[in-house]
This record gives sequence, structure tokens and C-alpha cells, in this order.
Amino acid sequence: MSIDPSNSTPTPTPTPASQAPSPLKSMDSIMSLCKRRGFIYQASEIYGGINGFWDYGPLGAQLKKNLRDAWWQDVVMLPCWGRKGVNGRPVGIVPVDTTIIQHPKTWVASGHAEGFNDPMVDCRDTKGRYRYDHVQVYVPSDGHAGEKPVFAYVSDTASEAKQRKKAEKTFGEVASVALSSLPQPWTRVIGPDADKPGTLTEPRQFNLMFHTYTGAVFDEDNKVYLRPETAQGIFAQAKNVWDTTRVKVPFGIAQTGKSFRNEVTPRNFTFRSREFEQMEIEFFCHESEALAWYAYWRDWRMEWWKSLGLAGENLILREHDTDELAHYSKGTSDVEYRFPFTAPGYGELEGIAYRGNFDLSQHQKFSGVKMEYNDTERGEVLPNGSRRGERYIPHVIEPSAGLDRGVLAVLCEAYTKDESRPSPEIMKIHPRLAPVKAAIYPLVAKDGMPEIAEKLHTDVAARFAKLGQIEFDEKQSIGKRYARMDEAGCPYCFTIDGETMSNQTVTLRDRDTGQQVRMNINEVVGFLAGKLT
Ligand code: GAP
Repeated sequence: MSIDPSNSTPTPTPTPASQAPSPLKSMDSIMSLCKRRGFIYQASEIYGGINGFWDYGPLGAQLKKNLRDAWWQDVVMLPCWGRKGVNGRPVGIVPVDTTIIQHPKTWVASGHAEGFNDPMVDCRDTKGRYRYDHVQVYVPSDGHAGEKPVFAYVSDTASEAKQRKKAEKTFGEVASVALSSLPQPWTRVIGPDADKPGTLTEPRQFNLMFHTYTGAVFDEDNKVYLRPETAQGIFAQAKNVWDTTRVKVPFGIAQTGKSFRNEVTPRNFTFRSREFEQMEIEFFCHESEALAWYAYWRDWRMEWWKSLGLAGENLILREHDTDELAHYSKGTSDVEYRFPFTAPGYGELEGIAYRGNFDLSQHQKFSGVKMEYNDTERGEVLPNGSRRGERYIPHVIEPSAGLDRGVLAVLCEAYTKDESRPSPEIMKIHPRLAPVKAAIYPLVAKDGMPEIAEKLHTDVAARFAKLGQIEFDEKQSIGKRYARMDEAGCPYCFTIDGETMSNQTVTLRDRDTGQQVRMNINEVVGFLAGKLT
């Protein structure tokens, strides 16, 4: 990002009065339900919390596991749902599990040691630090402030409303411009949390990797980093994988795991966290097939997210313009979701990038270990009929997804408010991901109903508890128990009542419609098998 000091007359873009999403789906109500029902808690809450870190409660931990398992099942166990790949063969994927701390040279080779920076501006007065590209400034709507100060802010933070109020008092009608469009030094800019102008520094680089030390001596020689992505562990082991297993290019290596980034402005709930989990695939192929594999992965990853209920206009696939691409990339697309805090815009869930053979070449350069693959299905046929393999550094397609962001999108999509229902907040989580798969309730805790319900619960749990929780509860009114399951996202409740005793039927209540139908008790397991497996 460059700053042009000659650009002293920025073109202001008026800020729309309100870009807020429907009040029925506000982040506040989603976050409050997440806390109340045990999906997500603030980390270290008893100590006042720690910015950028989140813990998952009982329902959230199961939901997160279900999303991770769905990815693992569809990527590693039965890649791409068993569809054939670009070469007409089944897609081959193998898993790895690499360490969070890698040799520090890994991050020199990957470019993270040098390039993993967001330019920041600091406030000399308040000591606040802001991502340069996030800072906006309220200026008069005609763009000419004269000698008056202008008001910087970061959107979606307290500074936005506070600075806008001050700017409107000073200028009347205001517009918003990027800080980068104003000439430096910013002597008339009042920082987002400051009271007087001229306290913002010029933008400076700031590395996002957390570091620590190995061994007893805490010096530069023993400095190591917490990985900012799981991908580099895969690249560093790629040669071992193709040397020690029977995989053949084209094939992919998949991994899930924690990554860490010292985000300067963690915000929007779990969307931008400092500790988060990724689900990454590095798919290795011959250069001649790479663009076709890129299109294949891009389209299938979009379909995958749709299959989990993130369909409709809230989900888009955005192809990057050529000027957005890294120098080694011939194509990158993002699967983006319209979160309540990005609406009407979208936020990235997963990036699918054609990375050339940049990463393996870099690791070859910095480690001195050859990363060439000997492709015995290609290359020259010798006079004796045998084939001399073609040696090359494979090209890579990288579908890289965020697990926590996926969970957040699922929660946002699921949250539904229906004032016509006695329990208006409903989490319409896709049955495959729902943390509670079914609830079995006796209508009242007497007349033999609990015994029948317990027996049904045992049968259902024996079959489906490996997929998620099967709830049993005999306390509270049935309405309250249904309401709790609606908020937990449990798709199906079965109730044993007086009629069960006479005709062996139970009530099946559907979470999404609230409708109830009767079903023979012997059909419950078969019904759930059809819905959950
Ligand atoms: N290996 C490529 C890579 O890491 P990325 O776009 O930086 O690419 C991939 O990250 C995905 O990881 C993103 O699409 C997002 O879902 C998730 N992610 C990245 N930074 C995150 C953060 N600070 N908090 C939560 N998720 C994050």
C-alpha cells in the first residue's frame, strides 16, 4: 500500500445512513444466545476476558467437532463425495498432523518472517495501534476542511459513532475517506481514540506471528514461532509423504489444526481471532493440469459449504481480480459469507488459491533438500519400452478454510427469530452439524412414561450418539424443554405421552416448523437414520 502525499484533495464517498442487517439477526442477539446456551464463551471471562480469544462451551465444542468431522469425512475419507477428478480418477487425499512449532527457517522460506505484516499506525498519545487499511476519516462532505481538524475512526468500533458525532458538529454533512488518501504528516487528523490532532504516526510494519523460545536460554538463537497457518507443515513434509507412501501426483495432503496470529484488531466475535483452527488441503499436480484442478476445487468447495445449509444469497464465490493475486498465483477465489457484521458485504470463509510451485521451491531453496517428484506416468519412453520419469516440482492448489469462521457462519445462518412461536429464537442448524441430534422426552414424569422414554433413549443413543448428543430430560414443562432444544438447534424431539401407552405411537416435533406428527415408536430409529446418516 503506498501513500501519495500529492493527493491532497481526496474524493469523499458519502457513508450510507445505515448498512445494518435486519434487527432480527443482530450480532448482539446471536452472541447472547451463544453464551446463554453454551455455544461460545469469552476466553478467561472470570478475569475480564482476553481480547481475540474464545472458548467453546458444550454445544459449541460439539458443533465445531461436527463441522471438522464433516470436512474430514468429505475431504479425507471420501474425497469430493467420491466424484472423479480432472484426470477421470478418484481424487486422492491423505492426512498429516504436523507441529505448531516448526523450524524457524520454515517461516523465512514461506515469507511469513518478512512479509507477514500489516502496516499499522500508532497513536503517540493514547498508545492505540490500528491497521492502516482499516482507518477511515470523517471529513466535510465537500472534502475541504480548511484549517479544521478531521476525525479518524475504525468502523465497527466505538470510535465510529463518537467521531461521526464530533465531525457532524464541526462540519454538518460529512463523508468518509480512507486515511491513506490524506497527505502525510497527518497533523490535522484526530486519532480514533484521541482528543487532539497530530498524534498518529506514519504507517509501520508489524509482524503477526507470536513467538516464544525453545530450551532454557531465551535469546534470538532459540526464538521460534507459533504457526500462523497449518499449510507450511504440509509443504515441509510433502516429500516424506510421496517417498514413504503409495500416493502419486495428482494427490492432496490435508490437515486440521490450530493457527495463531497476533491480529491487531481482533473483532466481530470469532471472525478475527488470535487463536483459531484451520482446515487446509495442499493438492499437488502437474503444471499442465493445474488450472483445471483449480477450477475443480474452487467449484467443489463452494458446493460443500452449500451442502451444509449456507446456501442462497448469503454465500458467494468471489474470483480475485488479477491485481489482487500474489505474484506466483494464477488464480484465487474466496468462498464468502454475508455475516450480519459484513452485510451488505461479505467476509471470507475459505480461500482457494493456485499457488504455482512457489512454496515447494522456497523450501527447496532454504533447506537444500530437492522437492522434485519423479512422475513415472509421464516422461520419455525409452527404446526398450520402459519410461524415464519426468522430474518436476509439483504445482499446488490450496483450499484453505477457517473452522471457527465456518462455525460462526453456521450459527449466523441458523439464527432465526419467529415471533409467532412461543419460543421465538430457533437455531436452524443443518442436521449433519447439529450438536444435539435428537431429544427423547416423557410428557410427564409419571404413569410409566419415563421408563418407555428411557428405553427409547438407550436405543437411539446406541445408534446415533457417535454423531452428537441424544438428549433425555423429564424436568420442566414440555414447552420449556422444546424451547431449549430450539435454541440448541436440535432438529427432532420425540415425546412419549398417554397415547403411547395405548397405541405405541410417539410425537415427533420438527424444530424448523414446530409441527408435530405421530409416529410408531418402532420407526424412530429408522426415521433418524434417514435424516442423520
Ligand atoms: N494457508 C493459506 C492461509 O492461511 P488465509 O486466507 O490467511 O490463508 C485461511 O487463511 C482461512 O483461515 C481464512 O479463509 C479464514 O477462514 C481463516 N482465518 C484466517 N485468519 C483468521 C483469524 N484471525 N481468525 C479466524 N479465522 C481466520
